[in-house]
Amino acid sequence: MAELEVADLIEAVTRRVLAQLGQVDPGRSHGDVSAQATGPYDPTRPLVAANWKMNACAEGIVPYLADLAAADTAVDLLLFPPAVLLRAVADEVIRVGRPDFGVGSQDLHPQPNGAHTGEHSGALIRAAGGTWTLVGHSERRQAGETDAQVCRKIHAGLDAGLGVMVCVGESIEARRTGATFRVLRNQLLAALGDTALQPPAPQRLAVAYEPLWAIGTGEVATLDQIQEATAFVRRVVAEIYDFARARDIRVVYGGSVKPGNAREIMSEPDVNGLLVGGASLKGPSFRAIADASALVVATRRQP
Ligand code: PGA
Repeated sequence: MAELEVADLIEAVTRRVLAQLGQVDPGRSHGDVSAQATGPYDPTRPLVAANWKMNACAEGIVPYLADLAAADTAVDLLLFPPAVLLRAVADEVIRVGRPDFGVGSQDLHPQPNGAHTGEHSGALIRAAGGTWTLVGHSERRQAGETDAQVCRKIHAGLDAGLGVMVCVGESIEARRTGATFRVLRNQLLAALGDTALQPPAPQRLAVAYEPLWAIGTGEVATLDQIQEATAFVRRVVAEIYDFARARDIRVVYGGSVKPGNAREIMSEPDVNGLLVGGASLKGPSFRAIADASALVVATRRQP
């Protein structure tokens, strides 16, 4: 039996077993991690993600998703709630009729299971309805996560069938001393270099450029800085994989994104989406950011 057929068979059996356990919708497949409703993967669709961090969304999950359900369908929306809320958010996404929304964890453990108190593996994230994971967020790196751990977590997420959004970004010192590109390049090579021989499908990977000094500070990078850095990220992704993947992997910006600045940030040519912290905690605010992103794409497509 060809290698692909074996892989497909294992996938089908795994899905059936998990479905019997009531853990996943049997209709969902790995293709769904692109958080796209229908049709083949389209890298020009913006990927707009909410990182709730260690917060419940302000108004509660039900009203939040009732608001978000009306968001423009031209955008792939992705929610990273605290892990304990994953199942509740995944269920609500289905209930409001937006199974195209991705739901993911803010971190994962590199091991598939074992004696790791307080941690959650890729398989557990999937069992809770998750389709994505965030890896290497700067707040985790500041808490001691190393480049090597980020790399292992990316492998674990991909192996578990999750989409992976990996975060990179420079400190204010690096920016001031002209080390931004060196930092970004080193982080990307350490995170993704190891996957070069078996590159993930473009819809399974996204890179978030988040300058540390813009996270939660209200200080947004300038449009020039955002464009320059996201274009640089894409160049390094091309160096690691190839030009086609660099074109098709979505590079998103994060750091004090709000409804008022989403549109101009999304208008930069190398920005394919946004990772939103504080402004994603309220449904109307996150929806306004999603809709502003959709508008940019609609305008771009006009002849
Ligand atoms: P912020 O957070 O939008 O509150 O700056 C972004 C992030 O940390 O992902």
